[in-house]
Amino acid sequence: MQLKPAIKKNLETFLGEVLKQNTKHNLTGAKTKKDFEFHIEDCVKATILASDALENIVVDYGSGSGLLGVVIKILKPNKEVFLVERNLRKHQFQKFVLTKLGIDGIIPIHDDVANFSLDKKYTACSKAFAPIKKTLLMTKNKENIKNYLFLKKNDANTKRELLEARPLIYDYKMHNYLCQNVKMTVIEVNDH
Ligand SMILES: C[S@@+](CC[C@H](N)C(=O)[O-])C[C@H]1O[C@@H](n2cnc3c(N)ncnc32)[C@H](O)[C@@H]1O
Repeated sequence: MQLKPAIKKNLETFLGEVLKQNTKHNLTGAKTKKDFEFHIEDCVKATILASDALENIVVDYGSGSGLLGVVIKILKPNKEVFLVERNLRKHQFQKFVLTKLGIDGIIPIHDDVANFSLDKKYTACSKAFAPIKKTLLMTKNKENIKNYLFLKKNDANTKRELLEARPLIYDYKMHNYLCQNVKMTVIEVNDH
């Protein structure tokens, strides 16, 4: 993947801080450098592939240690990004790592996704957060969600999840890709 040196540097800083703090604060299930590199690469590929679907404001549901919202912000500095996370420890890590990165226009929110709303249109995205149907139901009254992006493995479980959510979805698109030979997909849901 060809990325600009400044982007690579920020991704490396992010990776380094997650690995350092993870041993103390248990921020992510990805325990090794190799595991976390996989997830960063996944977020980078998904962001590039689905970039036309991103509104100017992007909200990452259940953002954990910062995947995927921090990666979107590093790749797309003009987007305004919100990281919604209900776990205080992870929220505090997000504030810490954003200070280290020195980037503005990305706002960590310590709250439940169900309580979060904005008065402008936005894209709601998530990785390893909740099943598609559950996410759609949890946020069904949020009028300003323009679309959703779900990062998932492209496997039988995801197909089942999609089928289960199908009655709530008007239109969707799958952006498929390989991440280190694993079949992945971004499911773009419009107008549920
Ligand atoms: C499996 S982790 C995934 C974190 C990150 N997106 C990633 O890919 O590494 C799911 C995260 O969602 C958060 N979470 C779960 N339900 C939530 C809710 N209703 N509102 C806000 N955060 C939630 C959890 O605290 C956890 O950090």
